Amino acid sequence: MKPREIRRGIYFVGAVDWDRRLFDSLIPLPDGTSYNSYLINGSEKTALIDTVDPTMTHVLIDYLDTLKVKNIDYVIAHHAEQDHSGSIPVVLERYPKAKVVCNPRCKGMLIDLLLIPEDRFITVEDKETISLGDRTLEFIYAPWVHWPETMLTYLREEKILFTCDFFGSHLAASDPYVTDEGQVYESAKRYYAEIMMPFRTNIQKNLEKIKDYPVDIIAPSHGPMHDKPEFIIKAYHSWAFDEPKNIVVLPYVSMHGSTRSMVAYFVGALAQRGVTVKQFDLTVTDLGKLAMALVDAATIVVGVPTVLAGPHPNAVYAVFLANALRPNLKFATIIGSYGWGGKTVETLTALMPNLKVEIFDPVLAKGYPREADFQALENLAETIAQKHKEQGFA
Ligand code: FEO
Repeated sequence: MKPREIRRGIYFVGAVDWDRRLFDSLIPLPDGTSYNSYLINGSEKTALIDTVDPTMTHVLIDYLDTLKVKNIDYVIAHHAEQDHSGSIPVVLERYPKAKVVCNPRCKGMLIDLLLIPEDRFITVEDKETISLGDRTLEFIYAPWVHWPETMLTYLREEKILFTCDFFGSHLAASDPYVTDEGQVYESAKRYYAEIMMPFRTNIQKNLEKIKDYPVDIIAPSHGPMHDKPEFIIKAYHSWAFDEPKNIVVLPYVSMHGSTRSMVAYFVGALAQRGVTVKQFDLTVTDLGKLAMALVDAATIVVGVPTVLAGPHPNAVYAVFLANALRPNLKFATIIGSYGWGGKTVETLTALMPNLKVEIFDPVLAKGYPREADFQALENLAETIAQKHKEQGFA
């Protein structure tokens, strides 16, 4: 594909990775991803905004060759993670006069991660500018979106905000701009849940920080660009600022059907009381979907059998992940079955220190659940419904 011109002399030179299915050896990518890099020609200087994952360096280099780029003055590094920085060493080798422009923290990380020589850097402060002649780049620090060194670039004359991971989505697409808002909403929410949610208060601060910049285009470093920026800004506002909703997330695992029967009964009891439930079988679920559900949920209930004297490892993994993602949950509890004892509840609750939740009494059945166990599940559903109502979660 030929490089796409976004505005006169500004090109998309990134790589679309249709086939990648896992990121960080952790995050599922059901719809692939892209590593967006942008070339900006000014009347005097040329800048490259971020690079691409090192597996796709050749795509970036092909674009630069096609555009007959003889010189790059600045390689703007928003973020040191290798999906954006990994091709910087090759670019520096091909363009010996190019300097990496980043903040001091990012410089240290790029030296550590990519062994880039110290004399190839120019560091910039928050709100500092660099002129390309007829175009001006303003750098905006945006820490913890999602690493501490992250920054954004605002191209003043064109009102384009380059945002790296912020407002991005793991979505491979042939269209340069968002065409299907529903699909992008889902991909962007998944991405927010997986890497931004733990830093919600920083996201709030950074949303505030950029609100006075007039923006025509948001150009993230993953997924399509936003030529209607209000769509993604509004979505981020709701994820970062809204109170939880009247939703229970119920990740569960069952070995012989006892826990499954409790889960099925409990989902019905909650639904009867008007509580929305999102149920996930942990043996097959896409953990990105679970992360997305945690963005809005008020309560997590873990369905878990006891095995080898403790919780089933799949439930341990899910709780560990939920704790790391720090969703805005308010309540938690555990339901499940055991054979003769064990430390399931103690082990799981000890894995939730980041969740600022009230923990309701668990409901544990010895073997297959009986009438008293189902009644306990009714009572638990009633407690949850009432608590959600008291808190005004709609
Ligand atoms: Fe897309 Fe945090 O890198």
